[in-house]
Amino acid sequence: MDNEFLKAEKILNKYKQEHVLRFLERRTPEEKTQLIDQILSVDFEQLIAILHKKDQHIEDNSANITPIRYEDWDKYDNNEQDAYTQLGWELIRSGRVAVIVVAGGQGSRLGHDGPKGTLDIGLPSRKSLFQLQAERLLNLSRRANKYIPWYIMTSPENHQETIAFFSSANYFGYPADECFFFQQNTMPVLDHDGKLMLTPSSELRLAPSGNGECFSSLKRSGALADMKKRGVSWMFYYNVDNALIKVADPSFIGVAASHNNPIASKVIEKTNPDEKIGIVCLKNNVPAVIEYTEIPNHLLLEKDHDGSLTYHAGNISIHLFRYDFVEHHADTELPYHTASKRMDYVDSEGNLIRPNAPNAYKLERFIFDFFPLAPRMTLLKMKREEEFAPVKNKEGEDSPLSARNLVLKLHEKWMINAGIPVEQLLSRAIEISPLVSFSGEGLDL
Ligand code: UD1
Repeated sequence: MDNEFLKAEKILNKYKQEHVLRFLERRTPEEKTQLIDQILSVDFEQLIAILHKKDQHIEDNSANITPIRYEDWDKYDNNEQDAYTQLGWELIRSGRVAVIVVAGGQGSRLGHDGPKGTLDIGLPSRKSLFQLQAERLLNLSRRANKYIPWYIMTSPENHQETIAFFSSANYFGYPADECFFFQQNTMPVLDHDGKLMLTPSSELRLAPSGNGECFSSLKRSGALADMKKRGVSWMFYYNVDNALIKVADPSFIGVAASHNNPIASKVIEKTNPDEKIGIVCLKNNVPAVIEYTEIPNHLLLEKDHDGSLTYHAGNISIHLFRYDFVEHHADTELPYHTASKRMDYVDSEGNLIRPNAPNAYKLERFIFDFFPLAPRMTLLKMKREEEFAPVKNKEGEDSPLSARNLVLKLHEKWMINAGIPVEQLLSRAIEISPLVSFSGEGLDL
């Protein structure tokens, strides 16, 4: 212990983290041991390098950015659409497809107490986001006569709660042995002066370090080996917070597989420059996403002759990764991005401080930073209203209420297409269970 303490002391002095030393003085022996262990596992040189490059992403994003071309699902004729969809079904049926949901984020903007996937967005059924996703998977699995393995990425702070939620709901009818929960990495949170932050339980404040940790976490947890054993060749990746997600969409799988690029991604048309979605583009002639927090203003507002946004390929975080690409890049080190956030912490005297303004840097890797590593990728434009109902904020735009309304609006469209008279639908909130219809099929009278 003394030896370890001396090592930690030396490191903390070297990296100007003396406030942690002062904090250590007043801790119990157990707390000290725990905190010293944490300190010894921090890579301080890496933290310094990340902070040093903090603004570099924004600067990089000014250079050599051009629009990217994409295919449009609606421009395929019926035969093409059918052929792609059939191919997708074949791959699902033969066990080649796995699904990954990234659900390790903290959802701090939403203010929901619990993992985001447990949120009930106020649909008549009161189903949670996880239940909607499970039932969509059940629908496909029953029709394919093959369960699709579901890999759920959590973080240390919501792992147990996520598993308990699934288990108490009997996995929403999905087989428990097709659900694989795996935890992602974390990184220390730093204050604006680069100092480590502490928690009331006398630990370093850590935070999940972004969805870009997905591939390495798949490998570390054994999930990648599990996929290999099952013969998976495509991984369908999505955000937990999209209430309209067509999990394992066979049509998209078919398009990706027939183009056979290492990555495929769905995009939607971005029409409002202020919308908080990343844009897919070419950066130095290779595919890339510029995150909405890092887009230089001139690119954000740039317009074509017809008045539409030049950079309008909106990222909705629905990707397909080819297994071999993920395996190849599972140990690839992506850059970290820094986001300034408001975070509670404990000072060196042990007082809990609750700042009113952003005071901390969260360090995150982004999944789409793998895009430039693929020689080519397939981009497929889809209809926004059929694909994207994000739940990010407590109220207003991208809130549970806006997502609920988007789901009900789409279901109304399905019913109208199925021949139900519009008058019968007026002022009624009718929800179609995913167990009945995945994307509007099978509702004909
Ligand atoms: C994300 C995309 C953005 C896209 C938008 C569409 C990233 C970095 N940005 O923005 O380009 O337009 O979705 O809705 O992906 N997550 C983890 N672990 C983490 C952090 C996040 O699993 O450490 C998960 C979250 O639970 C969520 C997803 O990643 O499911 C995206 O979350 P977040 O990082 O908050 O990105 P957005 O701002 O939603």
